[in-house]
Amino acid sequence: MDRIRIVGGNALNGIIPISGAKNAALPLMIASLLTSDTLTLENVPHLADVEGLIRILGNHGVDIAVNGRREHQDGSYSRTVHFTCRTVADTTAPYELVSKMRASFWVIGPLLAREGQARVSLPGGCAIGTRPVDLFIEGLTALGAEMEIDGGYINAKAPKGGLIGARYTFPKVSVGATHVMLMAASLARGTTVIGNAAREPEVVDLANCLNAMGAKISGAGTATITIEGVTSLSGARHRVLPDRIETGTYAMAVAMTGGDVTLSGTDITLLDTAIEAIRRAGAEVSAVEGGIRVIGHGDQIRPVDIVTEPFPGFPTDLQAQFMGLMTRANGVSHVTETIFENRFMHVQELARLGAKITLSGQTARIEGVTRLRGAPVMATDLRASVSLVIAGLAAEGETMVSRVYHLDRGFERLEEKLTRCGAIVERISD
Ligand code: EPZ
Repeated sequence: MDRIRIVGGNALNGIIPISGAKNAALPLMIASLLTSDTLTLENVPHLADVEGLIRILGNHGVDIAVNGRREHQDGSYSRTVHFTCRTVADTTAPYELVSKMRASFWVIGPLLAREGQARVSLPGGCAIGTRPVDLFIEGLTALGAEMEIDGGYINAKAPKGGLIGARYTFPKVSVGATHVMLMAASLARGTTVIGNAAREPEVVDLANCLNAMGAKISGAGTATITIEGVTSLSGARHRVLPDRIETGTYAMAVAMTGGDVTLSGTDITLLDTAIEAIRRAGAEVSAVEGGIRVIGHGDQIRPVDIVTEPFPGFPTDLQAQFMGLMTRANGVSHVTETIFENRFMHVQELARLGAKITLSGQTARIEGVTRLRGAPVMATDLRASVSLVIAGLAAEGETMVSRVYHLDRGFERLEEKLTRCGAIVERISD
């Protein structure tokens, strides 16, 4: 199993190219199940989760052609992938596949809309919380589907003639359930109005792509989305939006180590709340042509309290990284997690580096320390792992992060991107 060795203490200076967003690419790829034409996606990141979903989609009958990576001057790659699902080969998504990647559960939306039926395994628990699927069941039921749980699977069946547009308001904001409703309602008869929809940029990206395929969606990015159903969707070409979580992660790394880095190929407006928190912590962040410039001052980090919330609030996917930053603040800060009940696994590991963190329910109290010391630590989930990398970059001495397969799920070429900016980071394959 690979490990990552970091020798901390170097400031970061240079350019870090930001990849296409994992959490946009996954639903966009799944949308290819809605049409028999080719959906071409540009800027698809090369990540374990994307490769895993490629295999899962193959199982449902999607032909996939990957255009080689192209290297740009700033060190970025861009991958274009063509997805063609002439006919759906299988409407079952088995446990072995869905349990590995929760997002693959989302195939339930397009399969139901296009084929009138789907049998999809319940995803099961995961490290960051229980993550139920009740909102998917309620939403699709509102569109007329019969949903039955049997042997760990959901059997979903559309009424004769297909799904029927309806008004449905989510009792709680869910990114995944909003994606699924957009895909399912696009091929329903009549108009669907979704209330309390997720407003994340990845939802807007999916809606834009579906509209390019011929869907009629308005209001994406607000809490109310209207979808006028159409009888069929066509192919399209769409560019995956930049990864705001990767952007925020590297911005926090610079805020922590000090230095001057341009994050290229990204957009500051995708993460206003997080940028505001990073600025309050003392880093200078500004929009520059084609990206964001971050100037960090390393040892003058100010304590900032944050609370995770659905977009446009502070993203839960940046909570661990921000906590990493706060471990070296000049004072006490509080981080409150409201989206997932068990997303504090990084606390124990950050403590191994010398952080002083106490947990009380969903709030962590972080007492900043003047220095962190490198240590062996273990990655527990994707975002928790990268918080350890950030802390390791700012720690004295060597930090060895094990179980880095978590990182590979969501951070493209992390060691290379950091090394190009002066960090000492290497992958050790045993
Ligand atoms: C997406 O997960 C992201 N994943 C997550 O990123 C992200 O943390 C999350 O949204 C919140 O922003 C992808 O986009 C692939 P939710 P999702 O449904 O859609 C509860 C990462 O690190 N809920 O918005 O699964 C749920 O338990 C990952 O990249 C129900 O109660 O999240 C949670 O408390 C991790 N019933 C809350 O809603 C349901 O039926 C929000 O979850 C569905 C969700």
